[in-house]
Amino acid sequence: MLFQIKSYIKFLWDSKNEHAVHSPFVFNLLTKCFYDKKPKPEYQILKKYRKLLLENKNFIEVTDFGAGSRVFKSNRRQICKIAKTAGISPKRAELLFRVSNYFKPATILEIGTSLGLATSTLALGNPEAKVITLEGCPETANQCQLQLQKFNFNNVNSIVTEFESFLISENLNSKIYNLIYFDGNHSKKATLAYFELLLQTIDNDSVWIFDDIHWSFEMEETWKIIKNHSKVTVTIDTFQWGFVFFRREQKKEHFIIRT
Ligand SMILES: C[S@@+](CC[C@H](N)C(=O)[O-])C[C@H]1O[C@@H](n2cnc3c(N)ncnc32)[C@H](O)[C@@H]1O
Repeated sequence: MLFQIKSYIKFLWDSKNEHAVHSPFVFNLLTKCFYDKKPKPEYQILKKYRKLLLENKNFIEVTDFGAGSRVFKSNRRQICKIAKTAGISPKRAELLFRVSNYFKPATILEIGTSLGLATSTLALGNPEAKVITLEGCPETANQCQLQLQKFNFNNVNSIVTEFESFLISENLNSKIYNLIYFDGNHSKKATLAYFELLLQTIDNDSVWIFDDIHWSFEMEETWKIIKNHSKVTVTIDTFQWGFVFFRREQKKEHFIIRT
């Protein structure tokens, strides 16, 4: 926690807004998407999706991955509590909606579904997109699938799998994922392994979003390695998320931006 506070103070000190940005690509992204404060009818659907989960008092047996949870002691967990702690915040969900709506990615991969709070956001942002979302816990994935059906999200393919098995078994070099949201295993080793494997799927316009880049010292190290990778050109650090772009026409440039 102390680490995150220090990191946040540094972020506040270093971060800028659109006035310090000369790249037209980044300037447009900030002014037309990040800072778009206009209400959208879709936000009401996202609110209802969350509300239904927060009212769900049922318990499920959760399969825990990695280092376990900082919040839960047992694997028998209440759905409303999972929704409160594991999912994207309402403000971030609106931003993710706008990002999906702005870039209109044809194919989206989400690594870490939980109850689908972010999945629904991505899917709603571009109803034409094919959204693939990965979750290793069968009961969590089942709850998510029921919830997505209630809201008629027919453009989502929810896959119950360990991330590693999916990424190794898929023929990735024949795939293009136009947007990838990394929100599963927040360890350096796993994040860099997924990063390397998924580089096969990029094209010039791919958009990657890494969650929790300042969550720990390890994740900050990971973020530095990603920024320095030769295929990466532009990055945007918004504290919670790190955006990565591979646009060859851009010079390598790293932005730290308040959202
Ligand atoms: C932070 S939650 C995802 C939250 C979701 N993206 C949202 O914003 O609503 C991460 C999810 O990834 C799953 N997970 C973590 N490590 C995994 C692994 N190695 N393989 C499969 N699933 C994993 C967990 O079960 C958990 O539900």
